Amino acid sequence: MLKSRIAEILRTGQPDESLLIQGWVRTKRELKGFAFLEVNDGSSLGNLQIVINQDLPNYEGILKQINTGASVEVSGVLVASQGKGQRIELKADVLKIYGDADPETYPLQKKRHSFEFLRTIAHLRSRTNSFGAVFRVRNACATAIHQFFQERDFLWVHTPIITASDCEGAGELFSVTNLDFKKIPRTGNQDIDYSQDFFSKPAYLTVSGQLEAEIMAMAFTNVYTFGPTFRAENSNTSRHLAEFWMVEPEMAFCDLEGDMDLAEEFLKYIFKYVLETCTQDMEFFNERIDRTVLETADYIISNQFERLSYTDAVKFLEKADVKFDYPVTWGTDLQSEHERYLAEQLFKKPVVVTDYPAGIKAFYMRLSDDEKTVRAMDILVPKIGEIIGGSQREERLDVLEKRVLDQGMNPEDLWWYLDLRRYGTVPHAGFGLGFERLVQFMTGMGNIRDVIPFPRTPQSAEF
Ligand code: 4AD
Ligand code: MG
Repeated sequence: MLKSRIAEILRTGQPDESLLIQGWVRTKRELKGFAFLEVNDGSSLGNLQIVINQDLPNYEGILKQINTGASVEVSGVLVASQGKGQRIELKADVLKIYGDADPETYPLQKKRHSFEFLRTIAHLRSRTNSFGAVFRVRNACATAIHQFFQERDFLWVHTPIITASDCEGAGELFSVTNLDFKKIPRTGNQDIDYSQDFFSKPAYLTVSGQLEAEIMAMAFTNVYTFGPTFRAENSNTSRHLAEFWMVEPEMAFCDLEGDMDLAEEFLKYIFKYVLETCTQDMEFFNERIDRTVLETADYIISNQFERLSYTDAVKFLEKADVKFDYPVTWGTDLQSEHERYLAEQLFKKPVVVTDYPAGIKAFYMRLSDDEKTVRAMDILVPKIGEIIGGSQREERLDVLEKRVLDQGMNPEDLWWYLDLRRYGTVPHAGFGLGFERLVQFMTGMGNIRDVIPFPRTPQSAEF
């Protein structure tokens, strides 16, 4: 018999259809002469109700063995449901138990668990309603991202994880040791000689694929990366991870205006796609996690983002009748409290801040004619703050060389990057979207550790 997925059955299943499902038991309810199981296979928020009748062979034995968490396979016939809450249910003809789950020790019993507790059992939490919904929405966001770029003729390029350069120049690099082709023995590694580095110079985990994406844009015009990036910042906040995924489009023949236009269109597209494809999960977030989720999504889709310069943003912040922990003056970086004030309280919508002081931004950003600011843009959203950071890149060789030196970097290390300005340089621009911040913003989840299956933060890397 063909295997069916529960989401599809709940959507289109009709009485008298024979089918087979596999999944995990969420609840069991025993009544006189029959019992109900709620079974979930991860395809939807909704469970399929299974009816087991006492005429099933070994009825008593089966019921004893089936508890919350058990894995089962059921074949039977769909019938219209008499009960409230579901249109259709599956009358079991054959029920097979793959694995039971001891109710004394299985942690996910039918009650509400805090997200803090569930973080300690990250290997089981995907079986809950909240995490099921989060990871389905995460998948839909990823699909929307690829679809958006593929429809617009962008090439997906794969940039390296191990690299020798610090793209952001912020010194937040994890260094990679033992790149010497020797295998680590299973027990102990005292005999390994770490002195021979694979790269013959220090190697790190990438903080961004941008510099390599620029290489590819100089051949393919429009490209994007989508992969893991790493930051060794010791930030224990609800918005920082040591390992997070980033999406980085890079466009040749493009300036900052084109970059901002694309970023706005991009966010609107993803929200629209997720609302259409994960309607039930989004309603769940709105009901259970954050009452503003659907309103925010509608707002993003149908309104223009506010655009203002850093200089104007600082003026607004200086005038604000809010006591900030960090004072704001022209030339200092905006802190999360400032970003959130602008997006949450002042404009109450996404805000694109442009033209930051050159001194607080990375070496590759294009210097403006005032020689004080660079053509940078950050997109700030309510509750999260910065979700996207981007810029027009410096395409002039002499200016770039000077910027590299001014920031204390060695131009020889970036010879290949400078070559791009030497041979066929063009104005170009791009941005980076923090994928987990996007999922957090979309779902209303309060902590970024709860939108990635296996969060890596200063104190946690269980497996
Ligand atoms: O602003 P960032 O550092 O920009 C870059 O890395 C550029 N090279 C991007 C580009 O122009 N191609 O990072 C981009 C985004 C931030 O806006 C934020 O959403 C996210 O990455 N981000 C983090 N997300 C989770 N945890 C962290 N520690 C993050 N650091 C940055
Ligand atoms: Mg940034």
